[in-house]
Amino acid sequence: MEVLVFDTIEEASAQALTIFKDAVDKGAKVFGLATGSTPEKLYELMVQSDIDFTESTSINLDEYYGLSGDHPQSYHYFMKQRLFDKKPFKTNYLPDGLNENTEEETARYNQILAENPIDLQLLGIGNNGHIGFNEPGADLDGKTQLADLAPSTIEANKRFFDSVEEVPTRAYSMGIASILNSKKILLLAFGESKAEAVKNMIEGPVTSEVPASALQKHENVIVILDKDAASLL
Ligand code: GLP
Repeated sequence: MEVLVFDTIEEASAQALTIFKDAVDKGAKVFGLATGSTPEKLYELMVQSDIDFTESTSINLDEYYGLSGDHPQSYHYFMKQRLFDKKPFKTNYLPDGLNENTEEETARYNQILAENPIDLQLLGIGNNGHIGFNEPGADLDGKTQLADLAPSTIEANKRFFDSVEEVPTRAYSMGIASILNSKKILLLAFGESKAEAVKNMIEGPVTSEVPASALQKHENVIVILDKDAASLL
């Protein structure tokens, strides 16, 4: 893993933007995208940039189970507001949180991933080392699944909801194997609350207890940190 540390989120996100720009310049067409607070600055910079995604496809990592695309806390809504409405792509794929037929939905998403191999996958990381919604204990060889959120993730994500009871307890998520299938992976982590997960991901053993540690098995991973997230390295 290549690890780059910056003083501020602004500088770190500018570097991440450069990586996206280079990828587009080199012909990348399929981008795996993530939600959460971490990529917000990057998406802002993308919107301000002259990058042209109109011939590109995006495939998002995950979506809450049970939330419709127009629910303000859904990842569909987040992506539309932060990026897609302002920076159009040719096609945007996200899991359908309202599809109760789990087998059908996971097969549909795996098919999308098979037909559109990801050139550059953007990731954040959970405080507990999750990527997407692959929580501790996740199958490191897994594909798209309906995942149970860890109690600590529900706790961390309740800040976006009116109450903890409103946080969905399950989500459709790309699996670790689908993530590792990407040609290049760019993981961003900011803030002291991520420092331990970052240390475990980079310096710890590859273990399903820290799903992000599986990235050690990939040969083309760039980790961009601010100094707080890098403080335990
Ligand atoms: C969420 C998402 C992840 C995200 C992570 C960190 O639950 N499923 O894709 O990377 O948790 O979120 P944040 O960037 O808000 O800290």
